[in-house]
Amino acid sequence: MVSCVVSVASSLYHLWAHTPVPSKIVVGVGSPRHHPIDDLIANATTTLHSLLSKQTTTLTDSASAYRERRGRHPPPGFDVWHSFASAHDAVLVEDFFDRIYDDLGPFWSVPAKQIRQQARQLPNRIVVRNRKVRTRKGDRKRLDQWIDMVQKIQDKLPDLDLPLNMLDEPRVAVSWEDISSYTETAAAARQQQPAHEVVKDFASLDIDSETIEHDEPTFSHESPYWDLVRAGCARDAPSPNISVPTNLSRPVNSPTPFTYEGFVSNWTRAKDPCLQPELASSHGALIAPLSQSTSQTLIPMFSSSKFSMNNDILLPAFAYWQSKSDYATGNSHGPTWDKKITRVVWRGISSGGGNTPENWRQFHRHRFVELMNASAVRSVSAPQTFHLPPYRSRVYTPHNHFELSRWIDAISDVAFTELQCTIGSENECAHATPYYKTAKKVPMNKQFAAKYLPDIDGNGFSGRYLAFLRSTSVPIKATLFAEWHDSRLVPWYHFVPMQNSFVDLYGILAYFVGWMGKDDGVDNGGVVIMEGGHDEQARRIAMQGKQWAEKVLRREDMLVYLLRLLLEYRRVCEDGRDVMGWVDDLLEKG
Ligand SMILES: *[C@@H]1O[C@H](CO)[C@@H](O)[C@H](O)[C@H]1NC(C)=O
Ligand SMILES: *[C@@H]1O[C@H](CO)[C@@H](O)[C@H](O)[C@H]1NC(C)=O
Ligand SMILES: *[C@@H]1O[C@H](CO)[C@@H](O)[C@H](O)[C@H]1NC(C)=O
Ligand SMILES: *[C@@H]1O[C@H](CO)[C@@H](O)[C@H](O)[C@H]1NC(C)=O
Ligand SMILES: *[C@@H]1O[C@H](CO)[C@@H](O)[C@H](O)[C@H]1NC(C)=O
Repeated sequence: MVSCVVSVASSLYHLWAHTPVPSKIVVGVGSPRHHPIDDLIANATTTLHSLLSKQTTTLTDSASAYRERRGRHPPPGFDVWHSFASAHDAVLVEDFFDRIYDDLGPFWSVPAKQIRQQARQLPNRIVVRNRKVRTRKGDRKRLDQWIDMVQKIQDKLPDLDLPLNMLDEPRVAVSWEDISSYTETAAAARQQQPAHEVVKDFASLDIDSETIEHDEPTFSHESPYWDLVRAGCARDAPSPNISVPTNLSRPVNSPTPFTYEGFVSNWTRAKDPCLQPELASSHGALIAPLSQSTSQTLIPMFSSSKFSMNNDILLPAFAYWQSKSDYATGNSHGPTWDKKITRVVWRGISSGGGNTPENWRQFHRHRFVELMNASAVRSVSAPQTFHLPPYRSRVYTPHNHFELSRWIDAISDVAFTELQCTIGSENECAHATPYYKTAKKVPMNKQFAAKYLPDIDGNGFSGRYLAFLRSTSVPIKATLFAEWHDSRLVPWYHFVPMQNSFVDLYGILAYFVGWMGKDDGVDNGGVVIMEGGHDEQARRIAMQGKQWAEKVLRREDMLVYLLRLLLEYRRVCEDGRDVMGWVDDLLEKG
């Protein structure tokens, strides 16, 4: 029997812990049996290697990879983009930019003039003219971050107007019929002109003197939001036919689609509300988004994150650019793995949407916090936000409720720091106070003293994610939101993916941490012995995620992405866009 003491509760962390920390957790006693997560981890390694095998370095190779994947010539300025990327040692894999083409694809069917004019009509714009950002900084935190980002590359940019979304929530949701007709028209028209016919430079548009010929974009504030966004789902997906759930006072009891024995095996699908109508009643941002202002026609709107059926154009989030914020941890990564404590730490406010006495039991953050609360699991009155599956039916989360709650007690330090409920009503959080106790905030770099860091959506994406990836702890990520970096990150290699119902939460933790032996427990002098854990696998994912984030999620990488995005965006705003491109490599060949 091999036993390795891997965790000594660090005094650093003790200061902040909300629940008592066992003096020691011993992981890795006994030889672990074969587990489905072993297979998922093995496949993730293959996925990463096949991604890396597509890396290009020279300008010519990058241009060929572009033509092959996009079916067009690269945009004017591609050479400038490439030398910028190379000067910053960016890892170039064409797939890393897929998001840009998914987002901009349908715009190729919208008249260019309409796109530029709508961009001019929207507030909160960044205006670039003569290679300078004209928009002035002010006290608008988000806009200022993005201005700063664009300024770093302004000398390489053509004139453009960049309308930005200042809300947490996405802003554009066009019907599936419209989007698929745009996409089909664009795909049919896509071509690669003979090189000598290609126009190599952006036209010098006098955007500001153009007479506006289009109506100002309008935004709907209608609820329920679900009815608006499910129209964006493919008609053969289940969601368009499922209307908004009427009874929101039931705890969530989710099935487990797109999994391999209960664990996420296709991350893209696991995040897609079109494929899982039950998410309409188990994620706050779909149940009752805090702000709702949605365009149902295709307009250019740049956002930090969106649902699969939204049509916003994504750019790196302002929260990832900030160098001073709760989420910016600079170069601090927490102690080395062997000095970390075996714990699950999470802090945050009860956001996620407008939660009320009627709907809060369906909210994702409320569910997550209760799942990690041993007293709630043990309580005679059933937990409010979830059904515990009968323990015999879950192969990978063994044991009865009492043992489960002891186990949670030993590893969990999860709490809200503030209850935030429907705004405007007196005693507004009375519905939540019996079930949640707030705790002190734990600064991000103190959280890194724990090995496991779940990352849960708020009203929009979670701004902690980049810091978690850059830490030397393991991010356990559940989200419904798409972000700029999605195609760079491989689930089970750089982070641990989790379903949005969180039904796999215990199974994931049981795999990594193990399960406590029969006679050991918190009562046993504070020493807890865990059997069958996979501490080494956890350490590897933590380190792989960190090293990768330092290679492909740096500020430089955000700029490389942004520059590519803006060159493409500008091309699609040009009347002559179909015959415009970068073809110097082909002309040289003759
Ligand atoms: C792993 O990859 C193989 C080969 O692509 C595939 O057949 C298998 O289903 C995958 N296993 C899992 C658990 O995803
Ligand atoms: C949704 O409803 C339409 C119209 O009734 C039907 O044609 C379609 O097959 C349904 N889709 C699914 C996935 O059930
Ligand atoms: C909603 O569900 C709850 C819990 O299952 C039940 O008690 C209640 O009667 C239901 N309400 C309606 C209107 O169906
Ligand atoms: C995951 O699902 C998406 C969408 O259905 C599909 O395109 C993709 O190939 C799948 N990925 C894997 C690794 O199976
Ligand atoms: C855990 O659950 C119990 C019972 O519902 C509740 O009284 C307590 O406040 C909860 N603790 C936290 C940290 O939310």
